Amino acid sequence: MSSSIQEQDYTQKFSLSLWRRILNHTPQYKPMLVWLMVCMGISAVIDVAFPMMTRYAIDHFIAEKTTEGLPGFIALYALLTLTQVVTIYCFLYLGGKIETGVCYEMRCQGFRKLQELPFSYYDKMPVGYLMSRLTSDSVRLSETVGWSLLDLSWGVVYLILSIAAMLSVDVRLTLLVLLVVPPLGAVSWFFQQRILKAHRGVRKINSQITGSFNEGIMGAKTTKTLVREKENLKEFEALTENMRSTSVRAASLSALYLPIVVSLGSIATAIALWQTGNMALAGALKLGTVMLFINYTVQFFDPIRGIAGTFSEMQSAQAAAERVVSLLETEPGIKDTEEVIERFGDSFHPKKENWPDIRGDIVFDHVDFQYQDGEKVLEDFNLRVRAGETVALVGPTGAGKSTVVNLVCRFYEPTKGEILIDGVDYRERSQLWLQSNLGYVLQEPHLFSGTVMDNIRYSRLDATDEEVMEAARLVSADTFIQRLDKGYQTEVGEGGSRLSTGEKQLISFARALLASPAIFVLDEATSSVDTHTEQVIQQAIEKVLAGRTSFIIAHRLSTVRNADRILVIDGGKIAESGTHQELMSKKGAYWRLYTTQFREEKEQELLGGKENI
Ligand SMILES: Nc1ncnc2c1ncn2[C@@H]1O[C@H](COP(=O)(O)OP(=O)(O)O)[C@@H](O)[C@H]1O
Ligand SMILES: [Mg+2]
Repeated sequence: MSSSIQEQDYTQKFSLSLWRRILNHTPQYKPMLVWLMVCMGISAVIDVAFPMMTRYAIDHFIAEKTTEGLPGFIALYALLTLTQVVTIYCFLYLGGKIETGVCYEMRCQGFRKLQELPFSYYDKMPVGYLMSRLTSDSVRLSETVGWSLLDLSWGVVYLILSIAAMLSVDVRLTLLVLLVVPPLGAVSWFFQQRILKAHRGVRKINSQITGSFNEGIMGAKTTKTLVREKENLKEFEALTENMRSTSVRAASLSALYLPIVVSLGSIATAIALWQTGNMALAGALKLGTVMLFINYTVQFFDPIRGIAGTFSEMQSAQAAAERVVSLLETEPGIKDTEEVIERFGDSFHPKKENWPDIRGDIVFDHVDFQYQDGEKVLEDFNLRVRAGETVALVGPTGAGKSTVVNLVCRFYEPTKGEILIDGVDYRERSQLWLQSNLGYVLQEPHLFSGTVMDNIRYSRLDATDEEVMEAARLVSADTFIQRLDKGYQTEVGEGGSRLSTGEKQLISFARALLASPAIFVLDEATSSVDTHTEQVIQQAIEKVLAGRTSFIIAHRLSTVRNADRILVIDGGKIAESGTHQELMSKKGAYWRLYTTQFREEKEQELLGGKENI
């Protein structure tokens, strides 16, 4: 896991434009947000009205000892209470709806984006990091969108109206009481910033711990074989200790903040009490007014804490928001042009009626290629593969074999030169068109949770059970599948964890075959099956690949002997090319590779034979 990416902190300053961008991704929630603010405004108005009601009650009914107008007063009071109940229901409903809705929307869009992004994107992005964008970051972002505005609009309206209400009663007194607002604001801002920073620290360490779990679990076997348990534990303990101290700091800051603001609020109340009390004693102020001031000042710190809290909260959620938005706004490095999309459709709305048939004639025309921030892997690479031809790529690890086939699949595009399919630069056709005509069996096959049947059918969802089984039979996967406890209905576990790599390869081979593609790519697809199975697959391959353009990369050279053409790749160049017979009689690089491997295999056989005796 790359911690440098994980811990990257984005904008620190409060950024309104970022939040606007988020709303632009979820425009359907804008009206709801407006309604939420309206609700909060109404709620604040009512909260401000109650002390006014109390004042009236004291000065009118109690002081004058009368019940005149009492029914009206009670009715109004009941109405206000009822309205308050309704607004509380509404804002809780709206806030919840916005929170879950925005989260859902972000996850859908993020997931969709991840489907569109090319292979190269995944080279740089650790899986855990992407996961956290779609999980915790989305949650955090939508929480903030849902609830922050609520505190903010309530706080602002309440503060303004209560000050206005006090001013309308007594200007001098109001100004006196307002003296505590600046320190209250300053203290709130100071603490909220630090509290959130500490919380952010906690979250950061938390994600490191999750990452550490992740690696600990995934790498458990490696750890054990390397006897690294002790070191790992030590690293992990350091992390958790750091987590503890940071959490304690966050908690102590919160513990300190609340008493301070409450005290400041009490000072305002004390001032109000002292002044109004004196004035009331002197007969200059009615008791109701005294109560009014006290009621407002007791509550003073609430809106201020709300406002300061909202800004800090938004500022701190900004990191999460920025990560999610940057995922949503990532421009895929490999993208169909406007004209191509216009003509052939995009991944989600393909216009299949315009798709040309594919023959599978492939040309590398002066292709240069390098991975991002990597060295040049291919330089002036030229190759012509005729439709239906089977080409094998052999050569040392790191020679560039996988790179060549990845370029054929357009998982990457040439940095210079072009790749023509049926005589047309493949960038003039849609990615989906190519990939729909492509069967690719990966070096490390990936299975999805679900049954064996589901996994094979993944490449062509409308395939019947018979077709699935036929594909499995062709690649000789059915023998082992039938041995599984539930046959085709056996669950493969997460990522196919209940199967061996060889079994996974057989399944992914069947899967690729089921789609019946014009172009077939096998990148070390049989590297993890035993020699016997490989021979069986070998025969299947010949049947399967007949009439299809195919690229086979194989470590075991016996697998590729029957290819129409064998290319020896070395250092990104074609070192030799020809049929097995031609290359063997040439006694060059291929011959050396072949004889060495042949000798090694014989030795293995002999050794293995001895052990058996
Ligand atoms: N995703 C990648 N990012 C950067 N460099 C890569 C990547 N994949 C392969 N390379 C580099 O490109 C070269 C060719 O690799 P590859 O095509 O995988 O070789 P082969 O399949 O023949 O073993 C190697 O030097 C390898 O380190
Ligand atoms: Mg490879």
